[in-house]
Amino acid sequence: MITQDTVAKVFDAARIDEVVGEFVKLKRSGTNLIGLCPFHDEKTPSFSVSPAKGIYKCFGCGKGGNSVNFLMEHEHYTYPEALRYLAEKYNIDINESELTEEDKKVQSEKDALFLLTSFAQKYFHEALLESEEGKAVGLTYFKERGYSKETIINFGLGYCPDNWDEFSRNALKNGYKKDHLLKTSLSKERGHDFYDTFRGRIIFPIHNLSGRILGFGARILKSDPKKPKYINSAESEIYNKSKILYGIFFAKSSIVSSDNCYITEGYTDVISLYQAGIENVVASSGTSLTVDQIKLIRRYTNNITLLFDGDPAGVKAAFRSIDLILKEGLNVKIVLFPNGEDPDSYSSNNRPTEVKKFIDDNSDDFISFKTNLLLKETGNDPVKKAGLIKEIASTISLVPDNIARTLYIQKCSKLMGIDEKWLFAEINKIRRQKFYEERSKQKREEPDITTEYPGNEKKDIDLQPTGSVEFKEKELIRIMLAYGDKEIFLDAVNEDNKPVVVPYNVLKVLIEDIENEGFDFENPACKKIFKELRNAHYDQNQLPEQYFFNYQDEGVRLLAVELLTTPYSLSENWENKHKITVATEEDNLKKIVFEVLYDYKLQKLDKMIKDNQEKLRLEEDNESIMGYIKIDKDLKEKRGYFAKELSRVVLR
Ligand code: CTP
Ligand code: MN
Repeated sequence: MITQDTVAKVFDAARIDEVVGEFVKLKRSGTNLIGLCPFHDEKTPSFSVSPAKGIYKCFGCGKGGNSVNFLMEHEHYTYPEALRYLAEKYNIDINESELTEEDKKVQSEKDALFLLTSFAQKYFHEALLESEEGKAVGLTYFKERGYSKETIINFGLGYCPDNWDEFSRNALKNGYKKDHLLKTSLSKERGHDFYDTFRGRIIFPIHNLSGRILGFGARILKSDPKKPKYINSAESEIYNKSKILYGIFFAKSSIVSSDNCYITEGYTDVISLYQAGIENVVASSGTSLTVDQIKLIRRYTNNITLLFDGDPAGVKAAFRSIDLILKEGLNVKIVLFPNGEDPDSYSSNNRPTEVKKFIDDNSDDFISFKTNLLLKETGNDPVKKAGLIKEIASTISLVPDNIARTLYIQKCSKLMGIDEKWLFAEINKIRRQKFYEERSKQKREEPDITTEYPGNEKKDIDLQPTGSVEFKEKELIRIMLAYGDKEIFLDAVNEDNKPVVVPYNVLKVLIEDIENEGFDFENPACKKIFKELRNAHYDQNQLPEQYFFNYQDEGVRLLAVELLTTPYSLSENWENKHKITVATEEDNLKKIVFEVLYDYKLQKLDKMIKDNQEKLRLEEDNESIMGYIKIDKDLKEKRGYFAKELSRVVLR
């Protein structure tokens, strides 16, 4: 945490005209400055900066705020990142509260490592451009690969002289520590020897989001089967390769403006594409794509295009990445390069316009990509085709957004010539199954106090309540919101004592039952919704469908949206509403109503039992102890009853 004190200093020091001025060309206009708005396209300036007020405001698109807001908006910094940027700009020491001595040591250690990597980058860069050896060996190599001087300078490329310990000696002479040289992988130690890790290799510095050097990739010049093609910096306090993408520092603004990010396999792909004018490109160099890397991209865009070799390894990597990206809720397209080419070679062999055209013409969405590729293998074999459909269904099931998922289902159904409804059913099945798996995982992780109670014998078939009381409350509220106005048919007896079947309104059944128990909801939003539903029920009012979506309390609004639009649980309400799939819950409404109700009651009773036992444990007065023991007995009896009821409902 950055202290309030430091925050105040940063805000005091930051001059809005200077901060914005680094990114936008500003002209004086009276007491203000004006320029072209960086947040929308315009030809005449409507973007105004007021040094006196310390704010910017665009009269075209309405964006506005202070220096920190500007950096967050324009550079996509987080709040602390923006503060740090400004602190650095204005030479303010950052005070972090809650930092222990240990934390402070880590922080200053990190700073020292960054100073060293920055020194090393400059050293290698100069060695490449100015030393005889660098020019003869490194620069020639880059030139042969078609890299322009501008590209070499932009990416800060370098060369590590092939002189055993030349770099390490220089670093030590300049006051850098041995320990830090080892930690950043720049030097190696063996016995009495202390030497350069990257000697005789060309150097690709790896930048973080704000352009600081985290580490290096070092490529051998001539291929040698006895030596690795690349030596990369090992992980360190400053370098975590699964959290960074090569090229992101150079790509980020273009990723935002093009609203798309290309992911390639290596350093050279990034650089060649960038030189060909495709700047929104990064590489997950040396690792397969990670969730953290996808989250990093999501700060800038929701769209990813994978650029891969068409060889089997490339295809396999693409399949894996597709699932990962979809699961994070981003959109993904794929371009495979033909026979033995990769983005780097393709850009070297073709003109920039051709590269762009190739990528545009060959971007496939993941359904077509997977389908086409797998159809080649399956041919007309019906069994294999069924397997393929399941495979694609499983990928589609990862898409969290209902609307996006629906569109993919429709596309897949057309492409494969299969019934949309069937595909919906299949995908819902997979999602339900995942939901159950999650649920039982959650259950396994939670201490279970229910084992010893009666009615618990069928534990292995997962009838027992899982998760928290809050979770069950949400399920109940969800059923009330989604199906409250529906009817279910319950057994009863008429005046003549004959069994009859009577229709009951779902809301009535649930509200009156919960009220009878005298249970109170714990989650505040659930509590509010229940109260509203209850009052409306007794006043014989029906709340409009949108009622809770527009509710003044944000917690309530968010919960209603969550429950009715996401596969938070079993229903696919959105799909049901839009009549594009087979109804599932609605067909089984009676069963589901009671399952959810009993499930909730069991969970609630468990909690009450636990709370009561805690009181019992702490109580010293004999009479009170007897009282708690009686309560314990009653609660357990009741619990046993509902456990049996629940298993009856589920097994019916
Ligand atoms: N890589 C690595 N170690 C290796 C080989 C590859 O770390 N021994 C990583 C590098 O980040 C590399 C990426 O995987 O950039 C892709 O590998 P490859 O295509 O072999 O390397 P390129 O960088 O494309 O090199 P070139 O085009 O010169 O063959
Ligand atoms: Mn390559």
